Amino acid sequence: MAIQWYPGHMHKARKEIEEVMPQIDLVIEVLDARIPYSSENPMVAKLRQDKPCIKLLNKSDLADPEITNRWIEYLEQEQGVRAQAITTLQPAMVRKIPELCRKLVPVSEGALKDIRTMIMGIPNVGKSTIINTLAGRVIAKTGNEPAVTKAQQRINLKNGIVLSDTPGILWPKVDNEASGYRLAVTGAIKDTAMEYEDVALFAAAYFLHAYPEAMMERYKLTSLPATDIELLEEIGRRRSALRSGGHIDLHKASELLLHEFRSGKIGQLSLETPEMAQAEEVEVAKLLAEKEALKQAKKEADRLKRSGKRHQG
Ligand code: G4P
Repeated sequence: MAIQWYPGHMHKARKEIEEVMPQIDLVIEVLDARIPYSSENPMVAKLRQDKPCIKLLNKSDLADPEITNRWIEYLEQEQGVRAQAITTLQPAMVRKIPELCRKLVPVSEGALKDIRTMIMGIPNVGKSTIINTLAGRVIAKTGNEPAVTKAQQRINLKNGIVLSDTPGILWPKVDNEASGYRLAVTGAIKDTAMEYEDVALFAAAYFLHAYPEAMMERYKLTSLPATDIELLEEIGRRRSALRSGGHIDLHKASELLLHEFRSGKIGQLSLETPEMAQAEEVEVAKLLAEKEALKQAKKEADRLKRSGKRHQG
């Protein structure tokens, strides 16, 4: 499964952020509470350096509250990081963000300086909705397909906080295959980018393991299916997602499962835990190291071949 992100755009966004960063006091990183690890932009940690950072776990209305609390505890272990679960369905929660910014950037007494913040997040985590709620008017477009370029915006919230929107588009994790699937399950990667049924099978396997009761209840199952495919078939059967000849329409069943998850109809479900993220991070680092070693070995072999040819010639 390949996710296409354009290196040129990534590079441009990084350069632009690097340029603005010295003028920033605090970074606000928006994550999807259901996938705080997979919805991270891998560059944010490097770009923010030692600036204080608020990690907003947005869409917490859709995530498992117990898992979200574990994530908050885990994320706050990092120096200078405060994590906060929010949902834009409750604007009052969003409006508390400036107060949190003031706590993290102590302004020396008597100083009238604004706190300069930068809000970062991969597409679809709810960044525009948060900006609009904070500004009290529509500034950023919501629900858009990722655009190619976007001018940087600075919004003075007139409460001592100046908010800069990130220039360009921040890409999600691409090195971890499971993260790609989770992003697709939440709808952050548009459905056309990968096989719909594969994405639903990934979700089904995880829900069977992590939320069996929610599956039993939502789809009125009498016993728990043993495998992901059996779960999808059972959903199809229960919801009359059938093709001619009475065969189960797996595509329809996949749609049902994914749509009902995304809209919260199955309940508040998270797709990853801090423990899973830690284990996957180790795996990804190992894979990347192996890839790099292979690349180096190939380079060396090519070099030897070239110098061999020169000696012969
Ligand atoms: P972005 O700027 O980060 O790309 O995200 P944006 O604000 O456009 O929000 C993406 C989608 O997520 C929107 O749905 C928005 O309504 C929804 N959303 C944002 N915050 C929350 C939240 O706290 N809870 C829930 N449940 N949904 C939230 P959309 O317009 O329907 O777009 P799409 O889902 O069809 O892409």
